[in-house]
Amino acid sequence: MEFSYHNPTAIEFGQGKIKEIANKISKDKKILLVYGGGSIKKNGVYNQVIKALENHTFLEFSGVEVNPTVETMNKAVKIVKEEKIDFILAVGGGSVIDGCKYLAAASLYDGDAWDFLDGTTEVQKALPIGVVLTLAATGSETNHLTVVSKKETDEKRMYFSNYSYPQFAIMDASVMATLSDRQLGNGLVDAFVHTSEQYLTYPTSALVNDGYAETLFRALVTLADTWENRRTDNWLENLMHIANQALNFQIGAGVPQDWSTHLIGHELTAYYKLDHARSLAVVQPFLLDVMSEDKKEKIAQLGKNVFGIENDNAAVIKAMEKVYNKVGVPTKLSDYKIDDKVILNVTKALTKNGYTAMGENGNITLDKVETILTMSMK
Ligand code: NZQ
Ligand code: ZN
Repeated sequence: MEFSYHNPTAIEFGQGKIKEIANKISKDKKILLVYGGGSIKKNGVYNQVIKALENHTFLEFSGVEVNPTVETMNKAVKIVKEEKIDFILAVGGGSVIDGCKYLAAASLYDGDAWDFLDGTTEVQKALPIGVVLTLAATGSETNHLTVVSKKETDEKRMYFSNYSYPQFAIMDASVMATLSDRQLGNGLVDAFVHTSEQYLTYPTSALVNDGYAETLFRALVTLADTWENRRTDNWLENLMHIANQALNFQIGAGVPQDWSTHLIGHELTAYYKLDHARSLAVVQPFLLDVMSEDKKEKIAQLGKNVFGIENDNAAVIKAMEKVYNKVGVPTKLSDYKIDDKVILNVTKALTKNGYTAMGENGNITLDKVETILTMSMK
C-alpha cells in the first residue's frame, strides 16, 4: 500500500453551526459571499449568514447556475480583482462550491483560467474559501476537485488542485429541508456512484478502504429503504455525512479507481443538461454489465457484503438500479429526450478530452462507450 493523503478542511457539523462563520473568517478579510439562484433566500440560510457576518466586510455575487460556467464565474473574477476581495464564501451545493474553487484560483491568475480545465497549466495559488453546504451530494465541500463548464462550447471539464480545499465547511443538514425530492434522490445516487468509482475495480488487500466503502454503501441502501423518512433530521444528517465521506477521496487512497461513469456522464450533462446524478445512473448499470468480466470479483464482493447476494453478479447490478429507482432516479437514457447524435457527441467529446482508454485497466474504449449508450437508449 502506498498513498499520500492530506485534507486540511475543518468541518463544523450540526444544527445552528452557520454562526461559526464569524469565528472562522478573520475580520480583516474582505469577503465575497457567493450563491446560486436564490434558494438560500427562501430557507433562512441567507439571513443566518448575514447575521454571522455582521461584524465583517463583505460584498455579494449571486446567480451561479447549476453546472457552473466560466462565463458566469469570470464576472465574479472581475469583482474580486476590482474590489480587492481576499476571502470567498460559497453558500450552496456542488455548483456554487466548484464555481468558487475556480473563482479563487482564476482571481490570482493572469491568463484565461480555462487553462486549469484543459490542462494547459496547474493552479499555483488561490484565495482562501469557506463553505456553507446546502445540498448533500458531491463532497466538494471538503475535497480538491473542481468541475466547471464552458457554455460557448458545451464543454464540462474538471481539475484537481490542493489549493482548492476549502478552509472550512459548515454542514447543518436542517438547511436541506427545502430541497426537492429530486435533489435528495440525486444526492443519494451521486454518493453511491462516488463510492462505486473508488471500489468497483479489482481486488486489493486494502481492508480499510473496502470496509469503509461497504459501510457507506450499506448506509446509502438503508436511506433508500427508508425513503419515506427523508424529511426527518436523522435521514438528512446521514445523507449529508455519507455524501461527504464518499468523496473526500479517503476510500480511494492507494487503491485503483475507475471514474469512467463520471467522465461519460459529464458529457451527457454538457450536451443534454441531465442533472449530474441522473447522468451517472443511466451509464453505470450498463458500464458494469459491459465490464463485468474485469470487475467480477468486486461486483461479487459488493453483492455479498452489501446486498446479501451470492453468485449472481447480474442480480447485484439490478440491486444497484433498484436503489436508484427507489429514490426516483431513472436508469435508462431512453427515459429522457435524447437525440440520435448522443453516441457521436459523447465519443467526440471524450476523444477531444483525451479519455479514449478509461477505467482501472485502461480498456474502456470508445467502442465500449458506444455499446453502453446503445444499451441505455434501448
Ligand atoms: O442555485 P440555488 O438557488 O442554490 O439552487 C440549487 C440548485 O438549483 C438547489 N439547492 C441547493 N441547496 C438547496 C437548494 N434548493 C433548496 N434548498 C436547498 N437547501 O439545488 C439545485 C442543484 O444544486 P447544485 O449545486 O447544482 O447540486 P449538486 O450539489 O449536485 O452539484 C452539482 C455540480 O457538482 C459537480 C457536478 O458535475 C455539478 O456541476 N460535481 C462536483 C464534484 C466535486 N467538486 O467533487 C464531484 C461530482 O461528481 C460532480 O461532478
Ligand atoms: Zn458525482
